[in-house]
Amino acid sequence: MTGHHHQHHQDPPADTDPARFWDERYGQAERIWSGRVNPVLAEVAADLPPGTVLDLGSGEGGDAVWLATRGWHVTAVDISTVALERLAVEAARAGVADRITTARHDVTRDFPAGRFDLVSAQFFQSPLVLPREQVLPRAAGAVAPGGRLLVVEHGAPPPWSGLDADDPRFASPERILAAIDLDPDGWRIERLGAARRTATGPDGHPGELVDHVVLAHRR
Ligand SMILES: C[S@@+](CC[C@H](N)C(=O)[O-])C[C@H]1O[C@@H](n2cnc3c(N)ncnc32)[C@H](O)[C@@H]1O
Repeated sequence: MTGHHHQHHQDPPADTDPARFWDERYGQAERIWSGRVNPVLAEVAADLPPGTVLDLGSGEGGDAVWLATRGWHVTAVDISTVALERLAVEAARAGVADRITTARHDVTRDFPAGRFDLVSAQFFQSPLVLPREQVLPRAAGAVAPGGRLLVVEHGAPPPWSGLDADDPRFASPERILAAIDLDPDGWRIERLGAARRTATGPDGHPGELVDHVVLAHRR
């Protein structure tokens, strides 16, 4: 255990408004993320019949569009209007706009209504404070009986990030599960652990990324 944590020079100031932060972040480039579906989500969804899905922190919609193409009815929620506008453009381009609803929420303040067959939080992480103990239980509460909650987070900083390997923002799968705070009688944990993949860093060199995965099935 480390005695203290270093403030990383890239960290925004503590009083930064998250909606502005993310709109500015998205505004820095025409596209921030790859546009491809996240691999663990693709793996999990491949085994499920399409239903309703809540995509929390949907970003530019790589997952939402993929899911809708496979027949899911998607509610895509993000704090950034810039991201949601991009998502809507991609949905129209892919011909699945009728299966995607976008909704702007700061989910730390107001959580979207409804019950879903799948609630997916993919890299729902932020350099700003994002109280997972508050948001993840609400995500679990939005799962319909018989449905699933999938949480995938960066398990370690990318090798090229310059962040400390023990940066406290990278939680173990067990700590993520503890934050969700599920009633053990009402849920069965289907997956709890790490998934590894190779990605290319900004310098063009490959590096290994570690994802932490929690998949829980509501009885
Ligand atoms: C690291 S990105 C991941 C985006 C996408 N899920 C993906 O895997 O590419 C985190 C996303 O969460 C959104 N976000 C951050 N804080 C939020 C909040 N309080 N409420 C809703 N969305 C938020 C950001 O705008 C951003 O799109």
